[in-house]
Amino acid sequence: MPATATTTSSSGSIKSLKDLLVGQLNELYAAEVHSESVLAKIASCTCSPRLAEAVRAHLEETKQHLARLDRVFGELGVKPRKSESHGSKGLLEDCETIAGRGRIEPHVRDAAIIASIQRLEHDEIAGYGCARTWASLLGHATAASELLKTLTEERRFDEALTKIAETLNKSALEPAGSSR
Ligand SMILES: [Fe+2]
Repeated sequence: MPATATTTSSSGSIKSLKDLLVGQLNELYAAEVHSESVLAKIASCTCSPRLAEAVRAHLEETKQHLARLDRVFGELGVKPRKSESHGSKGLLEDCETIAGRGRIEPHVRDAAIIASIQRLEHDEIAGYGCARTWASLLGHATAASELLKTLTEERRFDEALTKIAETLNKSALEPAGSSR
């Protein structure tokens, strides 16, 4: 799927729980593809080596998330379709906008970057949590197991960001030049 996936609504064609699952998986797939470019941009612009390292590590995990989604689609016997949700597209665009703001004091911008990534991660956690539950209910045990692995990694990244924010937010309390 190209990174320029178009925003579409899949709700009109949902008639069953499997349709709902496939629609959710399509949206997660599009969000993961889009997030590859966004995470790379964030890792290159943060002034925190710790945040850059955590974001780069999650970028590598994102490649695994896409590979897992491919396996899940295979188990369900369907192919991924271009279907980026308005919500995740907006969250990803917010991350890019904040990362591109050069005039903000760097520590304050990093605090804002973490907040925007965490909103994105919470959206992914909700999406993978629902998809995993529906796959399990529909009897797709292997797919549910794959989705749980990704859900666990998304939660771990969110927790890591919270820990990094504890330090970064303190740095943002005293922006450069404020002591003059
Ligand atoms: Fe993620």
